Amino acid sequence: MDLFEYQARELFEKHGVPVLAAEIATTLDEAEAAAKKIGGKVVVKAQVKVGGRGKAGGVKLAEDAVDAREKASAILGMDIKGHTVRTVMIAAAAPIESEYYLSILLDRSNRNFLVMASVSGGMDIEEVAHTAPEKLVKIPVSAVDGINALKAREIVAAAKFPEDVAEQVAQTLLRLWEVFQSEDATLVEVNPLIKSKEGKIIALDGKITIDDNALFRQPDHSALVDHASTNALEAAAKERDLNYVKLDGQVGIIGNGAGLVMSTLDVVADAGKKYGGVQPANFLDIGGGASAQVMADGLSIILGDSDVKSVFVNVFGGITSCDAVATGIVQALELLGSKATKPIVVRLEGNNVVQGREILAKAAHRLVEQVETMDGAADRAAQLAAK
Ligand SMILES: Nc1ncnc2c1ncn2[C@@H]1O[C@H](COP(=O)(O)OP(=O)(O)OP(=O)(O)O)[C@@H](O)[C@H]1O
Ligand SMILES: [Mg+2]
Repeated sequence: MDLFEYQARELFEKHGVPVLAAEIATTLDEAEAAAKKIGGKVVVKAQVKVGGRGKAGGVKLAEDAVDAREKASAILGMDIKGHTVRTVMIAAAAPIESEYYLSILLDRSNRNFLVMASVSGGMDIEEVAHTAPEKLVKIPVSAVDGINALKAREIVAAAKFPEDVAEQVAQTLLRLWEVFQSEDATLVEVNPLIKSKEGKIIALDGKITIDDNALFRQPDHSALVDHASTNALEAAAKERDLNYVKLDGQVGIIGNGAGLVMSTLDVVADAGKKYGGVQPANFLDIGGGASAQVMADGLSIILGDSDVKSVFVNVFGGITSCDAVATGIVQALELLGSKATKPIVVRLEGNNVVQGREILAKAAHRLVEQVETMDGAADRAAQLAAK
């Protein structure tokens, strides 16, 4: 889960990373009141989970509270790379002397952590990384040893931070490591980390990605979930422990095993070309043990999607054999009753396929149609969706 900047700022504050006073606002009145409370010059910052806000016009300096209101009215409601701005953060404006970059991330390919640091931070860091990679130092951090004071100084020296801020940056890095570790983050990034005119090191912007697999031991993190922008179907699927991703098309997809579902998406998208560009409506992997309840949960999520015009159930019987899956489908349709309203194309293959097909044929449900091949079933599902 990616956090909003204001949420990252709160976690920074909690762990002693130096930040500026800030408040969030969703209305113009709130924005003005926040700016008044902070006092003096402020920045109005769009809260969206996407980079490059500044360049898109989502970060604006305001002279006073009235100006902050005006800047907020320009930013609230703005679309930044497909994300609508619903919230702004009003932060004290800092007089900036230099902008640096500092991040800690999980380095999956090397199976450890990585710190990246640069004295050329700010909005052009991607450009710097591209054209002058030597200005962005990358230092591996062992998961066992982590970052201690010695390691922090070593990183600061390698990145050539100026003498006068070296100790402050090292201390900040230690605090950021604490954020990374104790909050179960996979990314903690500060860009820019600034040196103010008074020579103080401050985190002006923050990005944090939390490891969702650690939610069970981070009870506070559930409060960080952004319900407003979570898709309702995805939220319902998550509640039932289903691997579901909403897509833009019209054919609902259910399969067992992520690989099979991925290739089902491809096959449906290909078959759909013949029918005016019909596309898959979702990814849904019901996993190995497709019980009737799991099948019913999956079907009800997909049938609840008003974009779905037909459903393609593509199952390869393995440990859970085709007859068990077929029984699951029949029971799921009984459970759903009149809530099942769209044509369902089923393709069964693998362990006990003959028995499985027989069970479905016998049940002779009005919505269910069997097709023996994956390509044939994809074609039929796309055709039904196009009707
Ligand atoms: N509190 C502040 N006071 C003064 N200047 C600021 C402040 N916050 C941001 N800025 C300036 O605005 C620039 C962009 O801000 P910020 O880094 O928060 O957004 P961004 O980098 O464009 O967004 P993102 O990190 O999502 O790409 C900063 O590099 C800094 O120069
Ligand atoms: Mg930034």
